[in-house]
Formats: sequence, structure tokens, C-alpha cells
Amino acid sequence: MLDIAFAKATLPKSGVLAIPLAEGAGLTGLAAALDEGLEGALTRAMEAASFTGKKGQSATLLAPASFKRIFLLGLGKDSVSARVAEEFGGAVQNALVKEAEATILADTLDASLAAHIALGARLRAYRFDKYRTTQKDDDKPKLSELTLLVAEPAKSRAAYAPLAAVAEGVELTRNLVTEPANELFPEEFSRRAEGLKKLGVKVEVFAKKDLEKLGFGSLLCVGWGSARDSYMVVMQWLGASGPGEGKKAKKAKDPIAFIGKGVCFDTGGISIKPAAGMEDMKWDMAGAGTVTGLMAALAGRKAKVDAVGLIGLVENMPSGTAIRPGDVVKSYSGQTIEVINTDAEGRLVLADVLYYAQQRFSPKYMVDLATLTGAIIVGLGHEYAGMFSNNDELAEKLIAAGKETGEKVWRMPLAPLGESYDKNINSEIADMKNIGGRPGGSITAAQFLQRFVNGKPWAHLDIAGMAWAAKDTPTTPKGATAFGVRLLDRLVADNFEG
Ligand code: BES
Ligand code: MN
Ligand code: ZN
Repeated sequence: MLDIAFAKATLPKSGVLAIPLAEGAGLTGLAAALDEGLEGALTRAMEAASFTGKKGQSATLLAPASFKRIFLLGLGKDSVSARVAEEFGGAVQNALVKEAEATILADTLDASLAAHIALGARLRAYRFDKYRTTQKDDDKPKLSELTLLVAEPAKSRAAYAPLAAVAEGVELTRNLVTEPANELFPEEFSRRAEGLKKLGVKVEVFAKKDLEKLGFGSLLCVGWGSARDSYMVVMQWLGASGPGEGKKAKKAKDPIAFIGKGVCFDTGGISIKPAAGMEDMKWDMAGAGTVTGLMAALAGRKAKVDAVGLIGLVENMPSGTAIRPGDVVKSYSGQTIEVINTDAEGRLVLADVLYYAQQRFSPKYMVDLATLTGAIIVGLGHEYAGMFSNNDELAEKLIAAGKETGEKVWRMPLAPLGESYDKNINSEIADMKNIGGRPGGSITAAQFLQRFVNGKPWAHLDIAGMAWAAKDTPTTPKGATAFGVRLLDRLVADNFEG
């Protein structure tokens, strides 16, 4: 755990320091005073290293005067955004991870930017060490205390509090997504979601028999082959209308609904996947993991919004009871589906949960997240999530929130019902089939989902390329990213509160 503290800016005399420097701005505030005390050592080091403050550029002074280490890091020449501050914080955490404690000179930045530095450092410090028993002390990170010297500590602390709640949501998501499928199966996932009750979230768990009663034939067929039962969890955070108690319990009013694909493991089923890389399919529940972490973030920072989170939890396995290619099932909407490929299972799960979300809550907007198609990785790589929407306003809001948080989305085509992309999934014997062939595979998947949103304002985020990272980035160590928690938290904060 990384402890974060904000303290009144006074000139430190020793220890490990990190200094943010804007390009071409020279030394100001505490950094200027420090340079003077060090008889110009900072200035000389900057000159010797040709350090100008370019974004990401760094220089280190070892053991000047009574200090152990002074680390300079460039912020670039544009005005410092929250995102740049987070990247600075993350880079400092990574550079100084072998030190026990460090101090950041943030006295020239405003309270909010200082708080975002802290957020960045905390997000980068994430680790999942639960299953390590033999790690040597030398290989462990040491940085456990980060102090930010700021002009107004109380203001920075107040700005950091909601960000810390978001960080907790991100960490919850990363934990869920990283867990192996023998540990995190649908029932266990539903128990973890119930943990949100302590934050004031109303949590309902629908077991397999409840889903059978409702007629969730599309979601349930995915789990036929698994020894693990399928579940749906509905989470409600009534931050605008207030939860109320007993008979006065309030109902979500025009909520925003978030829907997540929770395939705890995706073997492909009878349309089985190749062995190489199949272990990645433990994170095929990242959409559900993100929705759960998002609900924790919104509740944790007491967001003034009514938000509901719905997750469909299944395991896709081949067995004698598994669904066969060509089988026809009836979805909760009443529409029938011919399952041509049992590996196109995410859309089968989302179909029932989307239809249920829209029927029960009449949400103002629905946003689903799913590691839905390999094709979106072919198209967009690991830079943007694919975004499909029937609503320009919602699409614009998502794009804007993506730019602010760095969790970027790229809008993809979505056709009206009956147009050519949509026609690709017409079936010979049922209302539709679950695949449309290789061309435009991410688009036909979105077209399939659209048949279950009943014309309501909706966006689908295909996060297959974003949920798991092979490389570190400034605020995300490699592994589970929790992509979408910060994006959707920002969407809510910018548009749907107060
Ligand atoms: N979970 C996969 C998509 C996926 C692939 C996520 C790689 C992350 C990384 C999904 O269920 C799937 O198998 N999709 C198929 C669809 C096809 C059968 C139409 C795919 O993308 O190959
Ligand atoms: Mn699949
Ligand atoms: Zn899948």
C-alpha cells in the first residue's frame, strides 16, 4: 500500500525529492529555493543533462548535500492537465519504487493537480501479490510513503478524497480481472459484488433458477456446459434520490445503467478456442469487473447520481451438456437466436441483461462494456476501445471523457435495424443468428446487441484490446487495466451530477 500525505510546503533538508518541471519555465517556488541552497546544483545538473522539462524527460542528482536523491521530471510545455499530473505521479512512483519514502515538490501546482499527482502514483503502485509465496525482499517495491508538499494541504486533501474512492474502484476491478477462473467463478463474483453493500449500494443476486423463471434463455445457454451456475447481479447506487429505508425505499429515477459482460472463463465452448493464449480468457469478465469497480467508485465518492450496474456472470465450457452450434434459444426479449458459433457468447449474455436493464429501469442512457471481439483488436489495437452508439450526444460525451482520462474511445459504425450490417445476422430458421461472418466482426456483434436495446439511448464499448496490458504505462502496471472505470466515472461527474 502506498500512503499518501499532503503537507504544508516548507523547504526539505534531506531525503528523496521529486520535482515536476514545466518545459522552459525554469525553477520556481521551493525548487528555486532548493537550487539556491544547493549553490546552483539543480541548474547545473539540468544543463549537464540537457534537461529542458520536455514531457517525460528526467534527470537524477545522487546525494547532493544532505539529500539522498533528487529526481527531476519534465511536464512538457502545454498547461498541465489532470492527466499530465497523473502521468507525472505514476512516473515518480515507478522511478522511486526502491526508496522507502519520497517527497514531491508540488507547491507551484494548484490543489487539484496535486491530488491528481497522488492519484497517478497510487494507480501505478497497484500490485497483485496474493498468490506469491516466495518473492525475495529485494524484488518487492519499497515505496510506502509519498508526501506532497503543497500550498494548501487541506484543499489538496479535499480534492484527493473522491479520487481515492475512484482508485479503490480501479483496484477492485483490477483484482477481479486478475483472479484466475478457478477462484473467481460466477457465484464467487456475485459474492464479491455483494461486498459493495458496505458502501451503501443495493445489491441483488439472481441465481440460475431466478434467471430461468425470468426466461433468460440467451444468457443461460452459455453456461449449459459448465459445472458452475450462471448468475446476474444488479447493483443500485441512488446518490441522487437517496436510498431511503424500509417502505420508504426509493426507486432509481431515470438512472444511468452500466451493463457488463462477465464471462469468468471463455473456452469458446464446443466451438473451442486454440490452446495458445487461452489463459487470457480468464479476463473475459472485464466488462463486469469494470461495472463493479465503477459502482464502488461512484458509491465511494458519494456521487450525486442514480446509477445501476448489471452484470451477467457465466462460464463458457465444452461438455456433454454444452450448447451445440445450430441450437436455437429464446431470449428474455422473446426473440429467438440460432447459435452458430458458441464462441460468440458474450453477446448472448449481454442480450438478456441489456433487455432486462431497459425494461426494469427505463434508463436515461445505457452503456455496456465487453471484451466482445478479437476483431476490435485487429481494427484499433490497444489504443482505443471501440464505441458503438445509437445516440450522438452520448457518443460525444464518451469521447470527451476519454480525452480527459486517457481512456480513449473511437466511434465505430452502427447501422439502423434492417440495413446491411444488421442483415448479416438474419437467420434461416430463427429471428437472428449470433455471428455475421468475419468481415466487420465487431460491427455485427454491436448490431446483434442493438436488437436488444429497444431503441433506448445506448453505447457499447468493446474493450477486448484495452482490458489487459502487456506493457506498463505511466499510471497502469502491466496486467489488468480497469479500463472504463475512470472513463465512466468522468462521464458521470461531467454530465449527470447535480
Ligand atoms: N472473449 C472473446 C473475444 C476476445 C478475444 C477478447 C481476444 C479478448 C481477446 C469473444 O467471446 C470471442 O470469442 N469472440 C469471437 C467472436 C467470433 C466467434 C465471431 C472472436 O472474436 O473470435
Ligand atoms: Mn468467445
Ligand atoms: Zn468471450
